[in-house]
Amino acid sequence: MRLIYAALVLAYSGLSLGVLEVFQAAPPPRLSFDAPSCRQLVFEHSFGNSYEAPYVGAYSPPDGCDFTTAIFNLSVVSSGRQYDRLATLWLGDIEIWRTSTAMPTQSGIHWSFQKDVTVWYPLLTQSQKVIFDLGNLIDGDRYTGPFNVTLEALYYDDGYAGGFHPAEYIYPISTLASSSNTTSLFSLPGDSGSVSLTLPKNIKNAVVSLTASGNGAEEFWFTNVPTEYVNTFPSNEGWLYGYSPFREVQVLVDGQLAGVSWPFPILFTGGVDPGAWRPIVGIDAFELPSFEVDVTPWIGFLTDGQAHTFQLRVVGFDGSAENGIGPVGENWWVSGSLFVWLDDTVEQTVAQSFRSEIAGPAFDFHSSIGVAIAGDGTATNSSLYFVLAAARNLTVSSTIKTGAETREVTWTQSLSFSNIQNMTDLAFNQSLAMVTSGSHSSSASDIISHYMYPLNLFSAYDVASSGATTNPGSVLCLVDRSKLTDGISALSFLTGSSIGPESLKTRQNVTSSYHWNSTIVEGTAGVDTMDGEVWLSYSGGSAGEVGVAEYHRYAMEKNDSVLIDEQGWGQIPVPSTMPLPYVDGEPIVP
Ligand SMILES: *[C@@H]1O[C@H](CO)[C@@H](O)[C@H](O)[C@H]1NC(C)=O
Ligand SMILES: *[C@@H]1O[C@H](CO)[C@@H](O)[C@H](O)[C@H]1NC(C)=O
Ligand SMILES: *[C@@H]1O[C@H](CO)[C@@H](O)[C@H](O)[C@H]1NC(C)=O
Ligand SMILES: *[C@@H]1O[C@H](CO)[C@@H](O)[C@H](O)[C@H]1NC(C)=O
Ligand SMILES: *[C@@H]1O[C@H](CO)[C@@H](O)[C@H](O)[C@H]1NC(C)=O
Ligand SMILES: *[C@@H]1O[C@H](CO)[C@@H](O)[C@H](O)[C@H]1NC(C)=O
Ligand SMILES: *[C@@H]1O[C@H](CO)[C@@H](O)[C@H](O)[C@H]1NC(C)=O
Ligand SMILES: *[C@@H]1O[C@H](CO)[C@@H](O)[C@H](O)[C@H]1NC(C)=O
Ligand SMILES: *[C@@H]1O[C@H](CO)[C@@H](O)[C@H](O)[C@H]1NC(C)=O
Ligand SMILES: *[C@@H]1O[C@H](CO)[C@@H](O)[C@H](O)[C@H]1NC(C)=O
Repeated sequence: MRLIYAALVLAYSGLSLGVLEVFQAAPPPRLSFDAPSCRQLVFEHSFGNSYEAPYVGAYSPPDGCDFTTAIFNLSVVSSGRQYDRLATLWLGDIEIWRTSTAMPTQSGIHWSFQKDVTVWYPLLTQSQKVIFDLGNLIDGDRYTGPFNVTLEALYYDDGYAGGFHPAEYIYPISTLASSSNTTSLFSLPGDSGSVSLTLPKNIKNAVVSLTASGNGAEEFWFTNVPTEYVNTFPSNEGWLYGYSPFREVQVLVDGQLAGVSWPFPILFTGGVDPGAWRPIVGIDAFELPSFEVDVTPWIGFLTDGQAHTFQLRVVGFDGSAENGIGPVGENWWVSGSLFVWLDDTVEQTVAQSFRSEIAGPAFDFHSSIGVAIAGDGTATNSSLYFVLAAARNLTVSSTIKTGAETREVTWTQSLSFSNIQNMTDLAFNQSLAMVTSGSHSSSASDIISHYMYPLNLFSAYDVASSGATTNPGSVLCLVDRSKLTDGISALSFLTGSSIGPESLKTRQNVTSSYHWNSTIVEGTAGVDTMDGEVWLSYSGGSAGEVGVAEYHRYAMEKNDSVLIDEQGWGQIPVPSTMPLPYVDGEPIVP
């Protein structure tokens, strides 16, 4: 008996040995996942040919189980040849999680990622339609890999130091399409991005959370050029995308600007160089970030019992427009939700002295084009260099009166952005040095949040014919970037799951040389090379008994394998993102 058992174990581990574990460095949402009060399988589904065929099922609150904290555990296995895909998870019309997938290998990959979904407590305690959309393609020839997805929910009855007080209501800012069994994403700029909401009269706090990602022609928005430069290299037509590399996601209340998000530049696992992101995927690839705007200062307008418009919009830079604001391309997939807390002591919340001060964005743009003159006197553009900088300040405030008490509520943001690009070789060689940074504070707490996202990226494509990612080619890619945040989520703070600031420092640098024969989806073993490193250091402000106070992970990868992977409950120094090294004797970052 014993022998047979051992043989089985060996056979099993032999099987799983061939399957590569891919991962995103991220702090776990709690110290231990052991001993949940209860757990349930939300769904299991294989996404093969799944465009416009989301999984649609029923979510039920766990049976006879008290809980505060809820963690969703998403696990995926895949093997074959496949691109990275975008996926969204919905409870009804409300988006809970946006992720992308890693690109599989023939022998298979798997990953699991855990997200704390406690702030959605009011949805988790009711029966809901659950929708998971992962549009994938199997054509039997080029694309062969399905994504097999398992979502499990873990529930814990944690005590929270300052009490647990989830939002009373969560309203979708989406297309409200779950009744037709589809997701409720706005596709901007085509869709309206707007909903009309009639809200309770006694709101205490109101916070909009939004998720926005550029996809399709907008996937690499941060490498785009102002529209008047897309034809700088006419012999490589179609390679450059327009609308500038600046993007602002706006939240408007009744048509007035309430707050903005200058998005984190996501590099998906097929992005720039598919060889660069395995086994360590890019920062935030498995949990795309959301951004919060405190709209509590608008309460004076919102509590009149009438309908109000909440709109999400994405804009870019256009130097020929008077205010510099211009349109963007398709597709920005955007959705949001409005979280509302009530004041039980009043029938109607009254606010006065509404004030809104909006400065900018102030833009600064300059460019220079290198020109080469051929022997016959013909001039062609040999390089394009430009700098685009932007800055903005925004403050919205009002005074809420409750009986004899008054409460000042203010939402403040200050943002800055700089994007420097240098293109040569018909823009097949492209270097980017970008920094987005900002700070904000809300009426929820006294904590000021700061963030900074430096991104240095160089790519040099060698392709058989222009734009030909389906003809043989290669790409050399160097990336060095960081995400540095320090602050607090208003949603977690108001819910009670966070009581102090969280600090996250992560840096990733990768050098990859990738060669494909017929489709960019598959590289060439024995020729491709890749080296990468990731550092992550975290300190948390959790109110929960098993909250993570400190965590770190450092990993080094080479050619689809991990050479070093260290994790622990403490912080580590995270070196700064550096200007990219010299390429062929020339500094490739200006
Ligand atoms: C997440 O799910 C996967 C697959 O079901 C499982 O192997 C893993 O242990 C789960 N993780 C947690 C924290 O429960
Ligand atoms: C994914 O699920 C499909 C359908 O159930 C199955 O045929 C396939 O073997 C699974 N793939 C992996 C890698 O588990
Ligand atoms: C939505 O999906 C559910 C479950 O699969 C099904 O019962 C229902 O008929 C579908 N509704 C529509 C409008 O397609
Ligand atoms: C050089 O680039 C500018 C700016 O994009 C463009 O207007 C011009 O037509 C280009 N010149 C040539 C010869 O391609
Ligand atoms: C934003 O505020 C800072 C600090 O007061 C100021 O230096 C900066 O010029 C302002 N920026 C804009 C675009 O108004
Ligand atoms: C483009 O980049 C490649 C790779 O670094 C380099 O060999 C080549 O010289 C570059 N071309 C130009 C015109 O800079
Ligand atoms: C792909 O190209 C490499 C050389 O770059 C070659 O060694 C390999 O055999 C090719 N594979 C296929 C399937 O054509
Ligand atoms: C990575 O791959 C390249 C080319 O396939 C090879 O020369 C190199 O030895 C590999 N490195 C490791 C650590 O496997
Ligand atoms: C990443 O940066 C470090 C310096 O912080 C450097 O030593 C290392 O070579 C870089 N790795 C890659 C793959 O570029
Ligand atoms: C742009 O890149 C080229 C090639 O690396 C370099 O010669 C040139 O100096 C760079 N231009 C600027 C303004 O940095």
